[in-house]
Amino acid sequence: MSSPAAPAAYTLAGEKRERLLGAARALERIEADPDYPLPAERSVVMAEQASFKAIGTEFLAHFIDFGGLRPSDAVLDIGCGGGRMAAALLYYLDEGSYLGFDVHKPSVDWCRKAIAPRHPRFDFQFVDLDNPIYNPSKHSASEFAFPFEENSFDFAIATSLFTHMFMGEVANYLRQVFRVLRPGGALFCTAFLLTPSSVAEMLRNRGAVKFPAEHQGSLINVPERPAAAVAHFAEPLLALATLAGFVPERQLAGLWPASGAGVTKQDILVLRKVDRMASGPVV
Ligand SMILES: C[S@@+](CC[C@H](N)C(=O)[O-])C[C@H]1O[C@@H](n2cnc3c(N)ncnc32)[C@H](O)[C@@H]1O
Repeated sequence: MSSPAAPAAYTLAGEKRERLLGAARALERIEADPDYPLPAERSVVMAEQASFKAIGTEFLAHFIDFGGLRPSDAVLDIGCGGGRMAAALLYYLDEGSYLGFDVHKPSVDWCRKAIAPRHPRFDFQFVDLDNPIYNPSKHSASEFAFPFEENSFDFAIATSLFTHMFMGEVANYLRQVFRVLRPGGALFCTAFLLTPSSVAEMLRNRGAVKFPAEHQGSLINVPERPAAAVAHFAEPLLALATLAGFVPERQLAGLWPASGAGVTKQDILVLRKVDRMASGPVV
C-alpha cells in the first residue's frame, strides 16, 4: 500500500530538498565506508588522522548549510592541501565536479594518487607560487592569474588559506575567484577576522589564538614565521571583496578568540557573486 503524500506545507521544495537529501546520503555513505581516504604520509598537509575525516565531514555540512553547495556544482578548492575537503566532497558531488590546486607538491601528489581515481570528475593541480611555509618560490601569488576560464565554477572553497597569505595576495585571489565563478556562485572561506569584538575577546581570553605582531597590515601569531598564522582586519578584507564584485552574504564568528560561541575554529565568510538576472535569493 502506498503511503499518502505529505501535505505540501510540510514538504521542502526544489533545490533545498535536493541539498538536504544529498547531505544525508553523503553522511550515511561516509559512515559506511571503511576506505575513506586518509593520508598516511606525514608530509601531507593536515594529515592528522584523528581530525582529517571529522573536519572534512564537518565542513561538508557547512558548505551545504551556509554556502548552499549543490550536488551538481562545479567546485574549485583553492589551497586544497592534502584533500581534507575533497575527501568528504567525494560523497556529495555525485553529478558535480571538483578541482583543487595548491602550492604544496607532496600534498597534491597524494591527492592525485588517493582521491582523484575515486571520482571521474575530481582533479588536482600543483602551482609553483611562493608561500614561505609551504613552498618558497620566486613566483608571487599576488600576480597569479588562475588558469581557468571566467564563469567556470559554481562554488569556490578557501579553508584556512587566507590564514597563510597577506593582503596583496588575498586581494588578487578575491579578484581571480570572482572572475572564474559563475553568476550566483559563492566563495566559502575561513579566516581569523579582526573585529572590535574578536580583538576584545582575544585580549581577554588566555586560551585565545594570539596575534601579537603586525606584518603587511595584518596581525601575525609567530613574529619569526609571519605566514604561519595571519589574522586580517575584517573591514579592509570585506572592502577588497566588495571591490572585487562580491556581496558578503554570511559572516559567522569562530572559536579562536575563545568566546565559546563559534561554529568552528576560524571565522566563516560566504561571499556571493550575485546573479543580477535572477529573480529571488540564491540560498
Ligand atoms: C592550513 S592548509 C589548509 C589546507 C586545506 N584548505 C584544508 O582546509 O585542509 C593551507 C594550504 O594553503 C596552501 N597555500 C598557501 N599559499 C597558497 C597559495 N598562494 N595558493 C594556493 N595554495 C596555497 C598551502 O600549501 C596549504 O596546503
